[in-house]
Formats: sequence, C-alpha cells, structure tokens
Amino acid sequence: MDKPARLGLSLDMFAANAKRRLWCNAQLATMSGHGLGRVQDGVVACTGGRIVYAGASHGLANFNAEERIDCGGRLITPGLIDCHTHLVYAGNRAQEFELRLKGASYEEIARAGGGIAATVEATRSASEDELIAQALPRLDALLAEGVTTIEIKSGYGLSFAEETKMLRAARRLMQQRDVRVRTSFLGAHMVAPEFTSDRAGYVAELCAMLPRLEGLADAVDGFCETIAFTPQEIAMVFCAAASAGLPVRLHADQLSDGGGAALAARFRALSADHLEFASEAGLEAMARSGTVAVLLPGAYYFLRETHPPCIAAMRRAGTPIAIASDSNPGTSPLTSLLLTLNMGATLFRLQVEECLRGVTCEAARALGLAAELGTLEAGKICDLAIWNVREPAELVYRMGFNPLYQRIRDGHDC
Ligand code: NIG
Ligand code: FE
Repeated sequence: MDKPARLGLSLDMFAANAKRRLWCNAQLATMSGHGLGRVQDGVVACTGGRIVYAGASHGLANFNAEERIDCGGRLITPGLIDCHTHLVYAGNRAQEFELRLKGASYEEIARAGGGIAATVEATRSASEDELIAQALPRLDALLAEGVTTIEIKSGYGLSFAEETKMLRAARRLMQQRDVRVRTSFLGAHMVAPEFTSDRAGYVAELCAMLPRLEGLADAVDGFCETIAFTPQEIAMVFCAAASAGLPVRLHADQLSDGGGAALAARFRALSADHLEFASEAGLEAMARSGTVAVLLPGAYYFLRETHPPCIAAMRRAGTPIAIASDSNPGTSPLTSLLLTLNMGATLFRLQVEECLRGVTCEAARALGLAAELGTLEAGKICDLAIWNVREPAELVYRMGFNPLYQRIRDGHDC
C-alpha cells in the first residue's frame, strides 16, 4: 500500500473543494457517539468541503459522486487535531537537557534564568520569518502523521510586540502549509524580564493587551504554577479575557496542586492542561463545567519529575479527556502525535478509544470547534486521515512508525 505520488499544493484545490467526492471501500472510525464509531464497509461523501454522509455504504442514497476514491479497505478517521502546542519558537534547549541529565531539575534551571526565559531571549531575537522557518520542519512532522488542525500558543515574547509577532507567525503557517491553525495568547507564561520586580504591573499590562489583539488569538491561556502565576493573577487575566470576548484555557497543576483545575472550571475554560497534580474536586468541577482535561504525556515523560495525572478520577467524574503533544523546547520536544498516543496508553494507561477520541472529537472540543470538526458526521468539515491500517488500535500501538496514506482537508487531497 504505497503512497501515490502527489503534487504539493494542487492547482485545482479550489475546484476540488466544490466537488462531490466519495471515499468508498473503507473502514471508518467516525468518533461520533461514545466510542470509536466503527463502521465496516463504510463510505464518506463530501460536497463543498463538508461531509454530507459518513457511514455504512448501504445507507448512502442519491449521491451522484463526481469522483469516487476506492480506499482499498483502509481505515478513515477524522483528521487529527493537536490541541496544545508551543510550535513557534526559536532555538532549542538541548544544553538544558544535558544539565537535567546531570541532575538539575526543571524548576532549578528556571530559577537560575534558564527554562522559558532562555527561549524568550532566542524568540525575541528572531524575526517573524525566522520563527516561521524554524517552525515549519516541526509542523511538517506533525502533518505527515495526519494532523489537519493544530493549536499554537504564543508565550515566548512577553511583550505586546513580541507576543503578536509569535501569533502572526503561527497564523502565517496557514499560508505555507495546508493546515488549520488556532492560536492562543499565552502572555501569562512567565513574568516578562522587564517586570521581575513588578509582577502586578505585568499582569495589568497583560490585561491591557487583550482588547488590542484584533483577532490574532482565538483564546487566552495562562501558566498557573508556583514558578509562574498565582490563581489570583490568572483570575485577573481571565476576567480581562471575558471582557475581550475571548475563551480561556489553562496550564494547570503541572508541578504542584495550585487549584488550577477548579480555577479553570470556575471560568468555564475550554480546557485545563497537564493536571498531574489536579485534585479530585478540581477534576469534578471541570466535568461540571465541560472543561476538557488535555493530557500531555510528552511533558510528563520528558520531565520525569511528576507522577501521572489521575485518569481514574477523570473517568469517575466524567471529565472529557483530550491528548496533545505540547510540542515545546523545554518540556516536550515532541513532534509526533502518533507517539503521543502511544505514550498516553503506555504511561497513563489510557484505552485506545480514549487516545483516539483525545486527538479527534475531544481535541475539537478543547478548541471550541466540536460543532465543526473531530468526527465523521454530516455537516462537519471534511478533514480526514486515511491510514494503511485495518484496526484503530494499530495507530496507538506502534512507536516511531507512520502508516498515514493520505490527508484530506476541506474535502481536498493534501
Ligand atoms: O507546557 N508548562 C509550561 N509551559 C510549557 C513549557 C515551556 C518551556 O519550558 O519552554 C509546557 O510544559
Ligand atoms: Fe504547554
């Protein structure tokens, strides 16, 4: 099952968008309902970039396809969604990695001026074009594994000019590659170096930035941690986000239980992410507010300083679970969503179904896009991943192997 040769960006892409296309002779994991939504002998019909039918072949009536694509029994899933990344940044932190191998902790390195601060310095020194050039190989690695939507945070600029530079670079990736990018403003990642002796001043500055983002950010994120911002500081930023009409999400309870999960729930955040130290009460509050728990096994694996998040408590509470790469230079230099799935299963004991829902329907929910993306259902955007596998479990089981056959976005091949 070799991948056929394909043109990079097809010239008739726009014409193809409007076409009535039918993928047939496929197995489906529609991800609708509660499980994987398996369909043997399935088809996906698409018109104008939207799914008009996905299900058993015998259930499709009156679809006059202009193009029929025989999938040879391959598996079709929704295009994958990486709902938490810091993909845009300059430089790397391999030297810090070596220090950590010699025994230094993430917190020690951060307190000594390394960590996020090191990447802030490198990112500020890079131009917008340089940021794009450095992000592209990382993006390409993710796209090669079936990602069609990616969230990218700012957070290594820490001033209005530098944060918006990052957000613009993230958005411009959509002109360079066939991918949907959603951006989050993460000015509350670390107190900017100019404000080390005036934390309150920085928080006020952040709040003032939000109404000036002019559509560059789809959400506001923060890092609630002893080495970053207190729950009170985050609450101020979240109030300003609400006034600016922006949804919020939070890096919560990664290194300690700072009440981040409950704080996110209180603000009806789209997601709270990491959650290694989240309390059971916090996870329950998230379930009630519909806040998605975004698990980041790459950061857990790479840091080796925490314990796994309490999946059992999430299941008990009914907290929705997504899973993402957290691709970043400090805690998760990971650019494989398939390996992330394997880590979710092996390190956190997530079930195959939880892993796959975590990068499709639940990831869409974490981005506030559940009505548009994440399942194979009539009315949704036709983003697909077609795989050289027969069983969904194969996508989670293997390590360092890429069985992607084809990526489809808005109904066209890419
Ligand atoms: O998601 N936790 C905070 N932020 C990133 C790490 C950022 C860095 O070390 O550069 C994370 O793990
Ligand atoms: Fe992160």
